[in-house]
Amino acid sequence: MFRVGYFQFEPAFGEVESNLSTVVSALRGAEADIIVLPELPFTGYRFRDRAELAALAEDPARSPGISALVELCRENGFHLATGFAEKAGDRIFNSALIIGPGGIVQTYRKLHLFDAENDYFDPGDRPLETVDIRGLRVGLMICYDWAFPEVARTLALQGADLICHPSNLVLAWGQQAMLTRCLENGVFAITANRTGSDVRPGGTLTFTGRSQLAGPRGELMHRSDERRRELFIAGIDPARARDKRVTPKSDLFEDRRPAFYGALTD
Ligand code: ACM
Repeated sequence: MFRVGYFQFEPAFGEVESNLSTVVSALRGAEADIIVLPELPFTGYRFRDRAELAALAEDPARSPGISALVELCRENGFHLATGFAEKAGDRIFNSALIIGPGGIVQTYRKLHLFDAENDYFDPGDRPLETVDIRGLRVGLMICYDWAFPEVARTLALQGADLICHPSNLVLAWGQQAMLTRCLENGVFAITANRTGSDVRPGGTLTFTGRSQLAGPRGELMHRSDERRRELFIAGIDPARARDKRVTPKSDLFEDRRPAFYGALTD
């Protein structure tokens, strides 16, 4: 069994240090293998423009916040999957990182930018990958990636037992869609969503909370409510995600017919 979970909370826009200290105090002492945080949990989400984002984004290798999170992982012996506004030279990505006691072990740069994100982020430029965390195979996707079943499928085909899904969901359907992503791929998924609103010059965005842990049969194992802060941790058995049989003669992966799926990649 692996202990996995998420922290749902309300980041304050632009308050990087105080958001970080909210996370560090909430997670200190938590017993888990991996805990997922929302998308962009330190900067907030609704940037006025690229200049505002550039002032808040950081190179993870030089970020005091990332160093504090590595230290938190070291003290508690867990890993974190977290959203992060990643500066890489003159590019800025909406990224997710897996951080452990030894530093950053995985970086994913959001492939499918949502709405105004296209005005200030660069689109992800790296292939989807999974990584081994203490024997649990983990993949990363971010928020609006839920609308592209190819993302979860690609991670599942690469052996993901658990998909970590840092989110700032504003539409009504993402949480429900993730139950289907789990069912069609036979994987676990944690959607760590934020609560509250970003009230900004470009308009107010309200986030839908309802973070969740979903299981390989599409079952909802736990869901938070829309507004309340919650640290949730539960045990999962990866063997359930490694058995792709639906019936003795039907298997989610062996029954695929990729020779007929050409339109997906054309
Ligand atoms: C989203 O992708 N943050 C909606």
